[in-house]
Amino acid sequence: MSGACLGPAPSLAADRQAYTPAWVYLLRCADGSLYAGWTNDLARRLHAHRTGAGGAKYTQSHGKAAVRLAYAERCADKPAALRREAALKKLSKGDKEALAADWAACHRLTVRMATPDDAGDVVTLYNWYVTHGTQTFQYALSTVEEYRQNIAEVLQKAPFLVAYTADGRLAGYACAHPWHTRQAFAWDVETTVYCAPDVLGQGTGRRLYTALLELLRRQGYHNAFALITRPNPQSDAFHKALGFTRYGVEKNSGYKFGRWLDLGYWAYELNPPADPPAPVRLQLDAATVAAVLQQDPGV
Ligand SMILES: CC(C)(COP(=O)(O)OP(=O)(O)OC[C@H]1O[C@@H](n2cnc3c(N)ncnc32)[C@H](O)[C@@H]1OP(=O)(O)O)[C@@H](O)C(=O)NCCC(=O)NCCS
Repeated sequence: MSGACLGPAPSLAADRQAYTPAWVYLLRCADGSLYAGWTNDLARRLHAHRTGAGGAKYTQSHGKAAVRLAYAERCADKPAALRREAALKKLSKGDKEALAADWAACHRLTVRMATPDDAGDVVTLYNWYVTHGTQTFQYALSTVEEYRQNIAEVLQKAPFLVAYTADGRLAGYACAHPWHTRQAFAWDVETTVYCAPDVLGQGTGRRLYTALLELLRRQGYHNAFALITRPNPQSDAFHKALGFTRYGVEKNSGYKFGRWLDLGYWAYELNPPADPPAPVRLQLDAATVAAVLQQDPGV
């Protein structure tokens, strides 16, 4: 058989770019003490400390639910992280406090509406997941120009939010697109959220999504849907924590990095169904947007 074929060459396991994270961190416990540890998955480790499921004995006996990340530092590999952890444990309380204060100052988040000029940062973050993960089914890198257009198009109907750290790094973004194009779908959106790999599990996603969902609710959208590739336990847990419910799974929906992946369908009711529904407001006034963006969900 000869002639044109449909679709790309399949993405194979060897196409995945390697990522071997190793971290040291300080946790602020309920009594103000600082606990030092290391991990290869900061988000999962933080969650374990807070819930007690596999967390350290120290944090379990020091108000585990109130434990907060006070400092995080990426290390080259596990041996480097273990060495750095030992050094952190030897620091005086004053030196640990100084590290934590600097870290907090650099990591303070500002959430704002994106502009097309944010496209370079957004595409860099998104492309990291294209090359390293299966969170997106995309194989090829997106371009800055595509994202300039994407941001401009999203903003005509919905928020495109970006969260920047005080030292100017994009920590994450969240936005919403029309769910389908036919008129009856006009009250539905598909939501998207991506956080930078070095801030996962630190509250950025919650801050962005809480604001996004509230803005969409005020615009008068009724349903937010999220498509989550499987496995992605972090995103599953995140969407569940934010109030989404999974209502379906499409088996073997996509093929990337040498494996078939399922697609989970998640839904969140933004407004109860009105009959008939009021038209969606394409834009909210600046004061409403500012009020929602200034609300901090306590992270
Ligand atoms: C999914 C994602 C957006 C979540 O954002 P985040 O900043 O890491 O998550 P947060 O710290 O705000 O967590 C909010 C809640 O989600 C849940 N959660 C997040 N990470 C979790 C984990 N690893 N294990 C269990 N629960 C987790 C917790 O309930 C958490 O609540 P808590 O803060 O009270 O513990 C982020 O991890 C991400 O960008 N992942 C990669 C890209 C991706 O998968 N995007 C979604 C595509 S559908």
